[in-house]
Amino acid sequence: MELNMTAYSEYIKKAAEILPKGAFLTTKNGGKINTMTIGWGTFGFQWGTPTAEVMVRESRFSKELLDSSMEFTLTFPYDNGMKDALSYCGQKSGRDCDKILDCDLSLIDAKEISTPVVSCKGLAFECKIIAKTEMQSGLTDLGVLDKWYKNGDLHTIYYAKVEACYELD
Ligand SMILES: Cc1cc2nc3c(=O)[nH]c(=O)nc-3n(C[C@H](O)[C@H](O)[C@H](O)COP(=O)(O)O)c2cc1C
Repeated sequence: MELNMTAYSEYIKKAAEILPKGAFLTTKNGGKINTMTIGWGTFGFQWGTPTAEVMVRESRFSKELLDSSMEFTLTFPYDNGMKDALSYCGQKSGRDCDKILDCDLSLIDAKEISTPVVSCKGLAFECKIIAKTEMQSGLTDLGVLDKWYKNGDLHTIYYAKVEACYELD
């Protein structure tokens, strides 16, 4: 599906406003579906296509699912909604529990990819990974390293093509 670029520009503005409060990054591999809270990312236009970048630390269960499926969905809740679920999904690991069940989250089928979307009043992005970069401590500014990576749990940056982007109700 070709994205409408005017609508996409409006959606990424909204997404950037909501992101610091938390968004769901949902992954699926085989029968396993997991979601985790993210607070960092960027949205734009790269390689001639609308793109989203997310940063996922090595220790996250989501990283295993991302690396296998090479796709994900994002849900940005409107109106500060889903606070409790975002908090839970930002602390518990899908290795130890089923966060979708525990938080009673509704899933809907994505339009363009096989990973489902966490459904709530908000915005959905469907993303296919184009590239990934593992941060290297040797290349990272020492101040950043000291502040964010004292325990060595570096992020991998995933660059993804936004296949679909729309509002949920
Ligand atoms: C508000 C908030 C934002 C977060 N942002 C990120 C992020 O951008 N990247 C990341 O790797 N972890 C982030 N986390 C932490 C993960 O959500 C958390 O470690 C989660 O339990 C990982 O789940 P998983 O092991 O099921 O993948 C954030 C947590 C919160 C509460």
